[in-house]
Amino acid sequence: MLVTRAPAKINLTLHILGRRDDGYHELESLVVFSGAGDTLSLSPGDALSLEVSGPTAPAAGAGDDNLVLRAARNLAERVEGLTLGAFRLEKRLPVAAGIGGGSSDAAAALRLLARGNGLTADDPRLYDAARVTGSDVPVCLASQARMMRGAGESLGPLLRLPLLPAVLVNPGVPVETRPVFARLGLQPGERVEAAAHPIVGDGAPALELLALLSRGRNDLEDPACLQAPVIVDTLAVLRAARGCKLARMSGSGATCFAIFSTPKAAARAARAIRTQHPEWWVKTAALR
Ligand code: C5P
Repeated sequence: MLVTRAPAKINLTLHILGRRDDGYHELESLVVFSGAGDTLSLSPGDALSLEVSGPTAPAAGAGDDNLVLRAARNLAERVEGLTLGAFRLEKRLPVAAGIGGGSSDAAAALRLLARGNGLTADDPRLYDAARVTGSDVPVCLASQARMMRGAGESLGPLLRLPLLPAVLVNPGVPVETRPVFARLGLQPGERVEAAAHPIVGDGAPALELLALLSRGRNDLEDPACLQAPVIVDTLAVLRAARGCKLARMSGSGATCFAIFSTPKAAARAARAIRTQHPEWWVKTAALR
């Protein structure tokens, strides 16, 4: 049996540059990953199947549209004689939450199929299968910090960034991605006038990274807050937490993150938020 982690993806920044003729939005985003995530295993075999367990399994479902199965089918279309098998997903991340849970599961499935079939990590068929499965799947293949551009398919070099002690909070409201983008109101072919994304240096020290992040933003925050007003409260709670250096929404929401100077400060804030909002999903995480 082959096993891999499917870590949560966090967009530290997400700048919208415009809308392409194909309807997708062109963006620039600094993406990092967290220790928190799902676990996926594969028992190689001829038949493709999926079983899902874990706290958020009911929301994720194990149907044909689960991204694990879609990714596997997309790879099978590209690799003749691909050995598939039985996937088991331990689902812990909230679903439709802006932290790429489904995308990370899909990328994990591709990594496991690559291992089971002796494909190298740089095999272009893996990347192609990732791209057609979803915009966030290519960046989840390596699950390491990098800039993501285009609609998500264009990836910058891997970045070595300092560990950022963080708290992730999801207020329990699923947010569908498509209507959040639609609320930007951009027409196909339309460009946005915006300041250039700050350049993130490989190996940037934590203080420099934080200063740079504070000059960035998530352009989906306002439309997501209109769709799910509880995100406004989530951000307010994080910003009020003792020691919070920066709080922002990830992806199209509703999960928000806050960065702290030390893991201890992050853990203390997480405890306080859990007491205040026992119904929210609150997780300490080391982002990098
Ligand atoms: O690629 P994916 O299926 O994950 O995207 C879901 C939806 O989000 C798309 O149908 C599209 O409406 C929107 N989207 C977008 N621009 C992106 C990524 C996603 O408009 N860069």
